Amino acid sequence: MKELQAGFPKDFLWGGATAANQIEGAYLEDGKGLSTSDFAAYKDPYITGKVDNFTFNVSSKELEAYKSHPEKYLFPKRWGIDFYHRYKEDIALFAEMGFKTFRISISWARIFPTGLEEKPNEAGLDFYDKVFDECIKYGIEPLVTMSHYEMPITLTEKYNGWVSRELIPLFEKYARTILKRYKNKVNYWITFNEMNMDMNSLYTGAGTLEDLVEDTLTATYQSSHHQFLASARAVKACHEIIPEAKIGCMINQIESYAMTTKPEDQLQALKSNQLNMFYPDVQARGEYPSYMARYFEDNAIHVVMEKGDEALLKEGIVDYVAISYYMSHVTEAREDASKLAGSFDSPIKNSYLELTQWDWPIDPIGLRISLIKLNDRYEKPLFVCENGLGAKDELTNNQKIHDDYRIDYLKKHVLQMREAIRDGVDLMGYTTWGCIDLISCGTSQMSKRYGFIYVDQDDKGQGSLARYKKDSFYWYKECIASNGETL
Ligand code: BG6
Repeated sequence: MKELQAGFPKDFLWGGATAANQIEGAYLEDGKGLSTSDFAAYKDPYITGKVDNFTFNVSSKELEAYKSHPEKYLFPKRWGIDFYHRYKEDIALFAEMGFKTFRISISWARIFPTGLEEKPNEAGLDFYDKVFDECIKYGIEPLVTMSHYEMPITLTEKYNGWVSRELIPLFEKYARTILKRYKNKVNYWITFNEMNMDMNSLYTGAGTLEDLVEDTLTATYQSSHHQFLASARAVKACHEIIPEAKIGCMINQIESYAMTTKPEDQLQALKSNQLNMFYPDVQARGEYPSYMARYFEDNAIHVVMEKGDEALLKEGIVDYVAISYYMSHVTEAREDASKLAGSFDSPIKNSYLELTQWDWPIDPIGLRISLIKLNDRYEKPLFVCENGLGAKDELTNNQKIHDDYRIDYLKKHVLQMREAIRDGVDLMGYTTWGCIDLISCGTSQMSKRYGFIYVDQDDKGQGSLARYKKDSFYWYKECIASNGETL
């Protein structure tokens, strides 16, 4: 029997997480091509009256409008927080907090501007070399996501994104290029960010314009199938090029609770959870789970698979399972229940949980439940590579940010991770989302802040971009220094 592990392991990877398209800016600098996230327009909630809570979707008409009249729109992911020019200052602040790891993604369009080039863009490769060198200087392990909600827009225009099989070799070329280039610098990799996002937004997750596909559900699972294969090829390449590295898959983990003890509701919760687990089931076990056959049949989903696909999935099993965790959901037996599985917006409220300012239910125990279930299911190391509170912060006159609400949120989640480890979970690390304030993925707002470091910029891109340490900065520093004991 495995010995009881009380407390975080000695080599636990504490740190923070970001994504290229939410921090870098410099969207056309040094040869970078336009990417799908460069077309996520900011929709002012004060004008629309509503903040789309998650996922940016783009239709073919919108894309056309964005391309022909960019001056009419704001695209905050094009400016990010200017990490491209300020990475040294930012990494120094992460080092000051004692980060052991820093999760970052590589922009595919920086390396292959259209995705179609034979040769990579040297200036793009050089940028990440410098970022990784800076991390290593402080003993920070880079944790790299190969694809975090962006890809060259050319691949959307030419192939309609991942719905096309053509993307698989193009992604493999990109993956092999970065694996070879950074093999001496990067030991931890993730292939796709939150692959289950395909179920929520085809544009965000797969670069696919939904209005151009015949059937959304079939397109969703066809895109996912292609990403599974691309991911498997990247895993194989990683094992071949950097045998000692670890490469994982990742989902947005949303545990579904049943509304009542009614067996129908319980069954529905089980099925909703299966739909979310479908993604790591394929990537961590190397085959489609049997429950999907019925789901495909019942929903008239026809996924085209080719000879050799099954074998490839088996060969591309990941080393660990990473999750982002923000909330749990409640489900009940109802017509649209399967559509809600894994989605950020659930119409059913859990009366036991408080909500964030963006209406996301706060459920630290849900994190522990998720970790235990994932551990039971895969018996592989787990990584919480996103978790955090998006909130409005106030900068005081003397440049302080008193974010006790964020400390409270994080403290409760860290405590539950500690409990999960006692429960037998093999947890590798924890990278809080948006360790420095960044552009929100779902809403493109700057005012939805997650960081330990405040960035002086508003939703419209105005501000000095100066960085200020929040109260949570000092809290996290202490948390890391004590290996999660002093909370
Ligand atoms: C995760 C994404 O799902 O949620 C991040 O991987 C994202 O990219 C994070 O930023 C928080 O969502 P939002 O919409 O608040 O930025």
